[in-house]
Amino acid sequence: MSQLQGNVAIITGAGSGIGRRIALSFAAEGAQVAIADINLAAAEDAVREIEAAGGAALALAMDVTSEDAVNAGVEKIVERFGRLDTMVANAGIQIVHPVEDFPYEEFRKVVDIHLGGSFLLTKACVKHMYPQKSGSLIYMGSVHSHEPSPLKSAYVAAKHGILGLCRVMAREGGPHGVRSNIICPGFVRTALVEKQIPEQARTLNISEWEVVENVMLGRTVDKEFTTVEDVADIAVFLAGFRSNALTGQSMIPSHGWYMG
Ligand SMILES: NC(=O)c1ccc[n+]([C@@H]2O[C@H](COP(=O)([O-])OP(=O)(O)OC[C@H]3O[C@@H](n4cnc5c(N)ncnc54)[C@H](O)[C@@H]3O)[C@@H](O)[C@H]2O)c1
Repeated sequence: MSQLQGNVAIITGAGSGIGRRIALSFAAEGAQVAIADINLAAAEDAVREIEAAGGAALALAMDVTSEDAVNAGVEKIVERFGRLDTMVANAGIQIVHPVEDFPYEEFRKVVDIHLGGSFLLTKACVKHMYPQKSGSLIYMGSVHSHEPSPLKSAYVAAKHGILGLCRVMAREGGPHGVRSNIICPGFVRTALVEKQIPEQARTLNISEWEVVENVMLGRTVDKEFTTVEDVADIAVFLAGFRSNALTGQSMIPSHGWYMG
């Protein structure tokens, strides 16, 4: 039987990469999904893919740093599908520099999208979840919610912050029947990661092969990338979990890079 029949979900940053795979997997399990992305064309393309497979989806143009855009998008979902059960706060970017060269504007941009965006989405979603006494908040953290890496001060700070937000929401949401968990993947070969390979090679003065083998996969148990499917399987599991026993938890698909 489909694991998410009747479930209504919003996934931010679902126009590409991990978010898109989560949206496709949710829809395949029977959920109605809102694909929210700053890139509307990518969101519409994901909706077409879901509809072609017989699923139900809605594309939303949303910059997660705009409270008005987030609120309007969440209202549209409830108008269209009548309820909201699952939030996946996934939209994100990466900018890498050593701290001494990190433009403050770029630092703020990373933190605003990841942490500010997760906060705004949470605030908009729980307004609908609390009255129905149910809901699942899923945050997209990273191994970098637990572990530092050089050049990633903004990203690591934001991802640690999201872990804290997730845990607060487990406490605040619990009495309202809303659970809150975070997925913390290791490296997944999406556009966000492809862009970093030449950047890190330049900054660290090593080859692109060394970036992949030593920086990205150096501490995995088998030198393998985590996949979008690995992350989506965990998101489906968290969205469909039958009780609120599992809350405040960090799930870490990383080929053993981080064993928390
Ligand atoms: N790829 C990895 O190795 C990896 C590892 C751990 C965690 N993550 C996290 O997974 C999430 C998705 O990353 P990905 O690798 O799929 O990247 P991606 O670049 O493929 O997808 C990111 C999506 O977010 C959207 N986006 C960017 N800024 C936005 C904004 N302001 N408002 C709304 N949407 C916006 C982009 O348009 C894009 O569709 C991010 O939070 C990232 O930090 C990725």
